[in-house]
Amino acid sequence: MICLGTWEFGQTDQWGAHDVSEYGRVLDRALDAGINFIDTSELYGNSEEILGQLLKGRREKVILATKIAGYQWDYNTMRKRLQQSLKRLQTDYLDLYQIHWPKIKGADHGQCLSNMESEDYSLIASSLGRLKSEGLISMGGVSNFRLRHLRGFNDDAFNIIASDQVPYSLLWRAYDDRETIDFCGLKGVKYLAYSTLAVGLLSGKYGRDTRLAPAQSSNLLFNEPILTYALKVVEVVKGVAKEVDASPAQIALRWVIDREPTCSAIVATTNPENISANVEAVDLHLTRDQSERLDVASKEFWSSMSPALEMWIWRNTSANLEKIGVKL
Ligand SMILES: NC(=O)c1ccc[n+]([C@@H]2O[C@H](COP(=O)([O-])OP(=O)(O)OC[C@H]3O[C@@H](n4cnc5c(N)ncnc54)[C@H](OP(=O)(O)O)[C@@H]3O)[C@@H](O)[C@H]2O)c1
Repeated sequence: MICLGTWEFGQTDQWGAHDVSEYGRVLDRALDAGINFIDTSELYGNSEEILGQLLKGRREKVILATKIAGYQWDYNTMRKRLQQSLKRLQTDYLDLYQIHWPKIKGADHGQCLSNMESEDYSLIASSLGRLKSEGLISMGGVSNFRLRHLRGFNDDAFNIIASDQVPYSLLWRAYDDRETIDFCGLKGVKYLAYSTLAVGLLSGKYGRDTRLAPAQSSNLLFNEPILTYALKVVEVVKGVAKEVDASPAQIALRWVIDREPTCSAIVATTNPENISANVEAVDLHLTRDQSERLDVASKEFWSSMSPALEMWIWRNTSANLEKIGVKL
């Protein structure tokens, strides 16, 4: 149910460098607490290497997922990149190999020149299928793929594409629409929810003056005027947390876990103490009234956003950002 995210392990400018032994403690705590699913990406700095070292001798205990970045999905490129990930992770197979992002014209600071084309979908499906038949991966998946992207695949592709890793939280509902959920249900695609704490914002420990990591500053939710609206939702989360004697992070996680399409809630931490708290969220009980209050606050917030927005600023066109008053 809970998956450990490891972008924060990467020792990159985005999250800063930490003591690697701390990550060892996070991983030990996670395995002890029964977490058996770990997510990384070739895009997360040294995360794959660090995980490879930390998982030595216990790789079989976990379901291991990574992602291929960029937009080259022909078989030879994907096989080469997968082999590099396997080497860094010190394993000879992956449980889940995901396409990190679809092409979005104008994204990546304007460097992505086109949207997804029909050839892209067939390359992804056939390359993932061949990697599976070679025993290098058990399953394929996509990430950040909207309904229009999922519809680009032939039905057969869903024999190999098992999941869509998507941002999903009280502060991000772009994938929370009936049509996408029904389509995924029909094709057997599960949501792996990420940024379930809205990159930490829903933990309640951030205000207008808190020092942010670059990964947070470049997230739409931490930018005005969005931050002001988002903090109103955080206040509701804090209120419910007080009522049930839990932390805001636990309430936010519980809410995601309860949502129909969520198969696993990914949450990241660099603090071993937060692991037990996050796992305990699975057993929290929210009354119908509490769930509804969270949902109402969340929907009110979301109604001021456009579903076309992406959570990371650089994935958006400047026109879309201007519409919601975010200045770069
Ligand atoms: N597919 C994609 O495009 C994509 C994009 C982003 C992320 N992801 C995946 O999702 C993972 C997590 O997403 P995310 O990094 O965006 O953010 P997140 O899980 O929503 O939030 C992480 C932040 O929450 C804090 N936190 C965690 N548990 C807490 C607790 N119990 N109490 C208080 N604070 C807590 C952490 O701070 P501390 O370190 O201080 O605990 C960390 O800064 C990533 O590592 C990655 O695996 C995927």
